[in-house]
Amino acid sequence: MLRTIIVGTGHHVPERVVTNNDLSKLMTTSDEWITQRTGIKERHFTDGTECGTDLAKVACERALQMAGRTPADVDLIIYATLSPDHEFPGSGCFIQPKLGITPGTPALDVRNQCSGFIYGLHVGDALIRQGLYKNVLLVGAEVHSHGLDFSDRGRDVAVLFGDGAAAVLLSPVEDDSRGVLASVIHSDGRSARDLWLEAPGCFGKPRVNLQHVEEGRHFPRMEGRKVFVNAIQKMPEAVQEVLARAGQKVEDLSLFIAHQANLRICDGVAQRLGLPPDKVYNNIQRYGNTTAASIPLALDECVRAGRLKQGDLVCLAAFGAGYTWGAALLRW
Ligand code: UT7
Repeated sequence: MLRTIIVGTGHHVPERVVTNNDLSKLMTTSDEWITQRTGIKERHFTDGTECGTDLAKVACERALQMAGRTPADVDLIIYATLSPDHEFPGSGCFIQPKLGITPGTPALDVRNQCSGFIYGLHVGDALIRQGLYKNVLLVGAEVHSHGLDFSDRGRDVAVLFGDGAAAVLLSPVEDDSRGVLASVIHSDGRSARDLWLEAPGCFGKPRVNLQHVEEGRHFPRMEGRKVFVNAIQKMPEAVQEVLARAGQKVEDLSLFIAHQANLRICDGVAQRLGLPPDKVYNNIQRYGNTTAASIPLALDECVRAGRLKQGDLVCLAAFGAGYTWGAALLRW
């Protein structure tokens, strides 16, 4: 039986570090508020010239290098982002020539925000187990800093996010005991407007409207408390679901990585699951919420720090706009 394993990981963030104090010069906020409410101390922002596929390129090269593969080996690109370089075509098409991947290689874009990596993993795993692809490059990349409202109106959202990219290379293995043991994805569109970027969009004619810009509807907006409550509830449910599917228990986990949305959310999820701190990895303090990049970025740091050994049981979980959520369970 075919299973999907992660054979390489990589990440890349822009050089520029932006602290909470830096943000407090742009809007009415403070290091104390941001640290207490979110755990975030700093994040990386581009210098204004890099776009998502520039960050993704480096992350992908690092993942390919770790895997001992070249761009020519990639037979499917899955690109997850909520901040694409352009409305269309998808960023997967732009990364293909940037990386030198063979023309003709399919490029699938995933638009599932903070759950984008888990959605991409779910799809990539299914296609690999069907025997359709052998080297699936799954990348999550975001350039939030180009699209946030850094005035007081947007301060609840603007302090949370950071730029970054992270990638994994997925490959098949004929070993039932390894790789992705289970993954689940969910959505509940009734709450789509709790966290969204309304405009521009074809809900109206013309799709780009000066009034939308004046009203700030081209910036992301969020019902923070509602999102917070749902994240703390849905991520543990998804974790229990993948554990049950694979016949495993929380106690069996070696490492748990939750989408890095807010340290209080990550701690709340771990607490609900009864996971001790030494089995949980968080890095939101240094990167903020990098959305589709957050889980693979944390995973890459764990891999490169030698935190994972063969046989370890790893669980990844996400929740975000849509609402969308999901989890994956892997035997390393
Ligand atoms: O990636 C997945 C999606 N995102 C999330 O999962 C994020 C989920 N939500 C959250 O993390 C939290 O709701 C926030 C961090 C966004 C906000 O924390 P909160 O404890 O829910 O605060 P709040 O929205 O209830 O606001 C408390 C106060 C308000 O002032 P008043 O009305 O009490 O006077 C806000 O206006 O804090 C104020 N506030 C700020 N103050 C300083 C909001 N943003 C800021 C800010 N700096 N940046």
